[in-house]
This record gives sequence, structure tokens and C-alpha cells, in this order.
Amino acid sequence: MMLLKTAVFLTGVLMSTSSAQDPCNVPCNETIYLGGGQVSRSVTFCPGRVQCNWMFFTGSDDQAVRLTNMTFDFMAKYRCIAHLDDSVSFSPVLANGHVLTACNMTSDQVVVSRQNQMLLSVNIGEFKARNETLNLTFTAETTLITGCGGTLLNITVPSSGEFQNLTSPNYPNPYPPDSKCGYILISEDASKIIEINILDLDIPRLDPSLTCNKFGVYDDRLFLQYPSIYGSKSFSLCNNSKEHKANYPTTAKEATIEFYSGSELQGKGFMLQYRAVDWPKRNSGNDSSFFDRNKIAILLGLMGGLALLVVLIVAVKCMLRKRTPSPV
Ligand SMILES: *[C@@H]1O[C@H](CO)[C@@H](O)[C@H](O)[C@H]1NC(C)=O
Ligand SMILES: *[C@@H]1O[C@H](CO)[C@@H](O)[C@H](O)[C@H]1NC(C)=O
Ligand SMILES: *[C@@H]1O[C@H](CO)[C@@H](O)[C@H](O)[C@H]1NC(C)=O
Ligand SMILES: *[C@@H]1O[C@H](CO)[C@@H](O)[C@H](O)[C@H]1NC(C)=O
Ligand SMILES: *[C@@H]1O[C@H](CO)[C@@H](O)[C@H](O)[C@H]1NC(C)=O
Ligand SMILES: *[C@@H]1O[C@H](CO)[C@@H](O)[C@H](O)[C@H]1NC(C)=O
Ligand SMILES: *[C@@H]1O[C@H](CO)[C@@H](O)[C@H](O)[C@H]1NC(C)=O
Ligand SMILES: *[C@@H]1O[C@H](CO)[C@@H](O)[C@H](O)[C@H]1NC(C)=O
Ligand SMILES: *[C@@H]1O[C@H](CO)[C@@H](O)[C@H](O)[C@H]1NC(C)=O
Repeated sequence: MMLLKTAVFLTGVLMSTSSAQDPCNVPCNETIYLGGGQVSRSVTFCPGRVQCNWMFFTGSDDQAVRLTNMTFDFMAKYRCIAHLDDSVSFSPVLANGHVLTACNMTSDQVVVSRQNQMLLSVNIGEFKARNETLNLTFTAETTLITGCGGTLLNITVPSSGEFQNLTSPNYPNPYPPDSKCGYILISEDASKIIEINILDLDIPRLDPSLTCNKFGVYDDRLFLQYPSIYGSKSFSLCNNSKEHKANYPTTAKEATIEFYSGSELQGKGFMLQYRAVDWPKRNSGNDSSFFDRNKIAILLGLMGGLALLVVLIVAVKCMLRKRTPSPV
């Protein structure tokens, strides 16, 4: 009995000392609360350990998650695809729920979450984990949500209806290269909708043959998106053309504004105003919701007319059949 106890004790000691040194046993699936401090990890992927998830919470709606000191190289043979073998994915980092994926990173790269949490997910192929020692390091910390630098700022639009200003960084001086800004405008009064007025737009394009819509996701442009019951509506704006400096009425109490700049050419950027307004009254304006409603009315009218026609034809046929004397 005594022997058994000693043996159990010994294996316990052995196991705990080995787990303290064995890089394969450093925590891998973790939930990390970043209370203002930094958290660093250095993880080795070993046989049998092929999937790890780190969930970070900042604990504050004003703070996003910032990962630095990222080093890994999983030598993906083919394309690096989110959640597939030998990839690392981060979310929410990109717009519209797209997942940022990488198969290698160097310590100068920084990944910032859009809002107050981030999921870092690592997937290694079984075969690769068996054959090679793969390491990953990161340092996680919090960063203020300003709307730029990869963060997404929620802005409450006052119910007073007063115009508020929003500009690109450094406006009217040239915006910095590699800007990534995002804002969600939310009407304080849910019965009102957002209106956006672009007063100034100067976002030069590198290639004059491209339209603003043909840009890659992160080429220089200003992007407006309105959720709507008819499907979300969006506008991709660039250049300094007059037709883009316009009023963008919405049919929603929420609107997303995103601004991206590449690295080669900088302009003044944008200057816009937004406010909360009442829903447009029926038949009192030329905005698209009015046209949408009219289209639906016309469609319903046509369908009603068609139904009536079918009923009439059937009725006439029945009457004709009754009148024709049945053959004896
Ligand atoms: C980078 O990560 C390593 C391993 O996790 C850690 O020892 C080091 O302190 C980190 N460096 C910085 C600048 O955070
Ligand atoms: C981490 O969690 C995932 C499921 O979420 C699991 O498949 C994986 O084996 C876990 N990794 C480790 C090392 O426990
Ligand atoms: C910001 O607004 C979005 C959309 O309304 C919401 O999902 C998100 O929780 C908000 N974030 C914060 C920190 O309030
Ligand atoms: C790192 O990944 C990029 C694509 O994400 C790839 O083009 C590059 O060749 C990779 N570098 C190394 C050293 O594997
Ligand atoms: C194991 O990895 C090494 C180094 O990357 C490579 O040269 C070798 O072909 C791999 N072995 C197998 C069986 O794939
Ligand atoms: C990974 O880290 C281990 C120690 O944890 C080290 O022995 C090994 O050389 C590292 N591998 C690479 C490719 O850096
Ligand atoms: C918006 O900017 C204009 C000048 O461009 C200024 O007169 C106005 O007071 C600003 N509005 C707010 C709400 O800051
Ligand atoms: C871009 O702006 C210039 C100057 O206003 C104009 O001549 C050109 O037609 C515009 N191009 C596009 C595609 O809007
Ligand atoms: C509606 O459009 C017509 C011409 O398209 C214009 O004359 C009229 O002023 C517009 N009405 C409003 C309220 O914008």
C-alpha cells in the first residue's frame, strides 16, 4: 500500500515536472481576459496537438484586442485557407465577417480586432505536426477603439437631428497610408433613419481605368453600407468626381462607414455629415425607398389584374359551356 502511494506520488511529481518543461503541454485552448496587462505565449505544436483556440476578451467596450510579436511559419504548400490545415485565423478582424487567415507571420505584423474580443484559431495538419516542430508566439494586449487602426467604432446619432461631422484621419491634410477605419452609426431614436451627406471627397485612384467598384477590398475608397429589408445597399466611393459628393438617404436606423487607403497615393480623404431624420413620408420625395414602394405597388397591381383576368376567362368559359346544348 505504502509502495503504491509512493509510486502514485512519484508519477505525479514526474508528470508535473515534465509538463512544466514539455513545450507540448503549454496551455493551448484558453480563454484570456486582458485586464490592461500583456499576455505572451510561446507554443509548440507536437504530434496529437493540432488544433488550438485562444479567445481573448478585453472586458471593456472601449478596448479592442491587439496581437503583436506574432511569429509562425507553417509552410503551407497550397493556398492558405481559413480553418484548413496549417493555417491561423483571426476574427473579427475583417469587414462583413470575413476571416483573416495567414500561414506565416513575422514579429513586425500586428493584428487588431474590430471590437472587444478576438478568436485566434490554429489548425495544423496531423502529418505536418508529426514531422516537424512548429512554433507560434504572440503577445496580446488591449488597444483603444478609435474607429481607425483596424477597430470599429459605434457612434450614437443624436435624436436632435443636428448634423455631426466625420472626416478621414488628418483631414484636410493627406490621410496616412494603410488607413483602415470603420464606424457604425446607430440612431439614438430607433424610429428615425440615418442620412449621410458627402461634402468633400478626394481619394485618388492609382489606375484611372478602374471604377471605384472594381477595387480590391482594401484599395483606397470610402464605403457606405445600409442594411435594408430589401437587402443591404452599399456605395463604393472614390476619386474626386462631383457625382459622388451627394446626399445618401437611407431606409435604416443604422449605417456602416468604412475607409481604406493603400500605401502609394494619398489625397485629402473625405468630409461628411450625418444626422438622424424622420422616415420619408409617402409620395413626398424622390428617394429610392419611395421608388421601391412604388415598384411593389405596381407589381401587386399587375398581379391583381392578372388574377382578375384569369377569373373572368374561367367565368366566360363556364357560361359558354352552359349555353352550348349538350349533344343528345
Ligand atoms: C514575444 O514573445 C515571447 C514569447 O512569448 C516573449 O518571451 C517576449 O517577451 C515577447 N516580446 C514582446 C516584446 O512582447
Ligand atoms: C482544443 O479544442 C478543440 C475543440 O475546440 C479540440 O479539437 C482540440 O483537440 C483542443 N486542443 C487541445 C490541445 O486540447
Ligand atoms: C456596436 O454595434 C453593433 C451593431 O449594432 C453591435 O453588434 C455591437 O455589439 C456594438 N458594440 C459595442 C461595443 O457596443
Ligand atoms: C508567407 O505567406 C505568404 C502568403 O500569405 C506567401 O506569399 C509567402 O511566400 C510566405 N512566406 C514564407 C516564407 O513561407
Ligand atoms: C519532413 O520535413 C522535412 C523538412 O521540411 C522534409 O524535408 C521531409 O520531406 C518531411 N518528411 C516527410 C515524410 O514528408
Ligand atoms: C520550436 O521551439 C522549440 C522549443 O520550444 C525549439 O526547440 C525548436 O527549435 C523551435 N523550432 C523552430 C522551427 O523554431
Ligand atoms: C462641423 O464642421 C463645421 C465646419 O466644417 C462646423 O461649423 C460645425 O460646427 C461642425 N459640427 C459639429 C457638430 O462639430
Ligand atoms: C475621376 O475624376 C476626374 C476629375 O474630376 C474625372 O475627370 C474622371 O472622369 C473621374 N473618373 C471616374 C471613373 O469617376
Ligand atoms: C423630384 O424629381 C424631380 C425631377 O426628377 C424634381 O423636379 C423635383 O424637385 C424632385 N422633388 C423632390 C422633393 O426632390
